[in-house]
Amino acid sequence: MDSHSSHLNAANRSRNSQTPSPSHSASASASSSLHKRKLAATTAANAAASEDHAPPSASFPPSSNDDLESISARGADSDSDPEESEDAVVDDDEEDFAPEPDQDSSIRTFTAARLDSSSGANGSSRSTKIKTEISTVKLEAGTVTAGVNSVSGIVPKDESAKTSTDDDVQNCGAYIAREEALRREEAANRLKFVCYSNDCVDEHMMCLIGLKNIFARQLPNMPKEYIVRLLMDRKHKSVMVVRPPAGGNGITHVVGGITYRPYHSQRFGEIAFCAITADEQVKGYGTRLMNHLKEHARNVDGLTHFLTYADNNAVGYFVKQGFTKEIYLEKDVWHGFIKDYDGGLLMECKIDPKLPYTNLSKMIRQQRKAIDERIRELSNCQNVYQVAEFQKKEGGSPKKIRVEDIPGLRDAGWTPDQWGHTRYKLFSGSGDSVTKQKQLNALIRVLLKTMQDHSDAWPFKEPVDPLDVPDYYEIIKDPIDLKTIGKRVESEQYYVTLDMFVADARRMFNNCRTYNSPDTIYYKCATRLETHFHSKVQAALQSGAKSQ
Ligand code: COA
Repeated sequence: MDSHSSHLNAANRSRNSQTPSPSHSASASASSSLHKRKLAATTAANAAASEDHAPPSASFPPSSNDDLESISARGADSDSDPEESEDAVVDDDEEDFAPEPDQDSSIRTFTAARLDSSSGANGSSRSTKIKTEISTVKLEAGTVTAGVNSVSGIVPKDESAKTSTDDDVQNCGAYIAREEALRREEAANRLKFVCYSNDCVDEHMMCLIGLKNIFARQLPNMPKEYIVRLLMDRKHKSVMVVRPPAGGNGITHVVGGITYRPYHSQRFGEIAFCAITADEQVKGYGTRLMNHLKEHARNVDGLTHFLTYADNNAVGYFVKQGFTKEIYLEKDVWHGFIKDYDGGLLMECKIDPKLPYTNLSKMIRQQRKAIDERIRELSNCQNVYQVAEFQKKEGGSPKKIRVEDIPGLRDAGWTPDQWGHTRYKLFSGSGDSVTKQKQLNALIRVLLKTMQDHSDAWPFKEPVDPLDVPDYYEIIKDPIDLKTIGKRVESEQYYVTLDMFVADARRMFNNCRTYNSPDTIYYKCATRLETHFHSKVQAALQSGAKSQ
């Protein structure tokens, strides 16, 4: 066990020293109540201080967007899905997109209204499946109308995008299988990744509106004015995944997107919003989208990093996209450029200068092939032996077999003397295996006692109590502690080599250092006790070697 049980306090348990400073938000999501409280208090400051995010025109939304606002409102009205109208979170507020002469007060009023009815908004969470977004837009005789996903003419989603065959997954891994399925869709022009911003091009604007609807649904706690404001801000760009209309005519269906702001001079981008439409989530679109974004940001914007404030629900997704909770970028580079966000976690992603982000599967396959070839050179693990003989029964009972007769065992390095496998050969040749086991047990007991008696052993004496450290077992998947090791030693059968014992001890120390940050007492105890332990092991090995 490590450290935490009764000695833990909140500070010690913090695995990350990053504490986002409270302020306003340009966050990818704003689901925490903290954030909402903050928004209410700081919305005015938010609007005023967010010059960086302010639309180019002094009025909000910019006059060129006025049409879009009415388009948006019409889109909501024309929604034929009866369920849609029940969704107060989105539809009740659709008119809120109408241009307001006083942008600040508009947001203030809006935010206050949302906060008053906060129970509804708070109740919305990532796990609440949101109904289908109004995410398709259609150009008809010069007018734009919004449709729902079920409108005929939308190219049905290719099931291949959802999952790949078991064989694919078995042979190449889920990541490759998913990416290749999506690549096939892209090649067949059933799926497209585009990057648009507010440039008044009809098609682009329609897609931005589709994306706005998705954000409004998927980020229910984010004020919609704020979404529109950033989305339409000409300094922001949106990388989107869309389904082009079949045959080139008809509806462009927006599946999801990421809105970001490139800070060219600082060479980093700030992700403001990121969402995939409800019924297309967890099918790989989010990952592919992020990969397209990285490639675009690197190749077109010349960016090297992304920063985003992730809310708790999205941290897992961002981690899988290569974001870290540690910020390696110099603070001078980004501080004052991006909005602080109270209740979110600032995360960073370094954009690799070379990685083929949109064709990682090819690279992974090549790497895998190279590793397989190297393994074949070094090992004979590719040899498969027939063991059918051993399944035969003799006279109704299973045939007795000798271990050494198992095909392939010797080829794999096994010797009748199991001691041959340990790096720690302690004992001289004489003596049978029973004697050796006794000697080993005696040594292990001594080593265990030197750990137990050490003044830094206290954090490791008992298993970590999940009541004290609720997330411990989510992070540490293979826990171990001195008490458990002690039981194994007592059994006298568990540790058949010294390696196994040393491995358990090492895991105990590593677990501790994984969970705790270096400045904690637990981390330091782990390192000191480990040093002590290893010196004792080395001493035992040396005296064992001398006595041989
Ligand atoms: N938390 C933890 N893991 C998540 C996750 C979440 N919220 N969403 C997805 N993942 C995981 C997936 O299980 C998958 O894991 P795997 O590769 O091990 O199978 C991986 O992240 C990528 O999933 P993918 O299918 O590519 O993502 P997606 O298409 O579902 O898109 C989101 C991810 C977060 C954009 C999407 O779920 C979404 O729109 N959520 C609601 C809005 C939101 O929370 N946005 C983020 C903050 S702005």
